[in-house]
Amino acid sequence: MRKIALVTGANRGIGKEVSRQLAEKGYIVYVGSRSLSKGQQACDQLGLDGLIAAQLDVTDQESVDALVARIKQEQGRLDVLINNAAINYDTWQRTLSADLDNVKETMETNLYGPWRMAMAFLPLLKKSNHGRIVNVSSGSGTLNGMGAETPAYGISKAALNALTLKLAAALLPNHILVNAVCPGWIATDMGGSGGGPIEPGGESIVWAAMLPDDGPTGGFFRHGERLDW
Ligand SMILES: NC(=O)c1ccc[n+]([C@@H]2O[C@H](COP(=O)([O-])OP(=O)(O)OC[C@H]3O[C@@H](n4cnc5c(N)ncnc54)[C@H](OP(=O)(O)O)[C@@H]3O)[C@@H](O)[C@H]2O)c1
Repeated sequence: MRKIALVTGANRGIGKEVSRQLAEKGYIVYVGSRSLSKGQQACDQLGLDGLIAAQLDVTDQESVDALVARIKQEQGRLDVLINNAAINYDTWQRTLSADLDNVKETMETNLYGPWRMAMAFLPLLKKSNHGRIVNVSSGSGTLNGMGAETPAYGISKAALNALTLKLAAALLPNHILVNAVCPGWIATDMGGSGGGPIEPGGESIVWAAMLPDDGPTGGFFRHGERLDW
């Protein structure tokens, strides 16, 4: 039976690459995109069997609920949720002069988005015997070594890591594995041109999506290696 995955923010960047890799491994992949036409464009560009464009704004409860209803009707379950969508690598900002409205806006997408998604899709993840949630995090969220730069982004990812631990503990009885993954510095719109190639970043995330049932939960990884929180 083909596994069903949903990737948020998958019309470009790392989310698109993760969708490509999962489709190549035989998954049916809902390619979440704020703009349905951009999501469809990404699916057409990749041209792989199993890719399905899906309108999804992780900050919009109605949009999330509509996709829950659609996947429930079309598949009856969800095996893998990849919380990839994120915004605002705020290199221009410093902690002591931060624009708190900007910080709140960042939290809406980078923290409350994944939290909302996990709660909304829980009934469908419970229908899978091998549920996985991957929260795409960042080394910027590591508490040890937290600097004064990128305060909104760094704090949102530290909070996402905390959410990962909370979800992993709460979902232990359901055998749903929840992990945070840093893909490494990747040359995307967010990462900029100095970053590395996209394929290993995608592989880092796909590794956590495909963990065996006795695999780790409540961990923070990059390329399959544990990271310090
Ligand atoms: N690139 C790096 O070096 C790097 C390093 C560490 C961690 N990461 C993490 O990796 C993930 C992907 O990053 P990336 O580099 O691929 O970023 P990106 O190129 O900027 O792509 C971000 C994606 O998220 C989507 N998105 C933003 N807000 C959304 C919302 N409210 N609802 C749904 N989708 C939304 C964007 O959609 P639109 O096209 O509609 O804007 C876009 O598809 C992020 O979690 C990022 O923090 C990246």
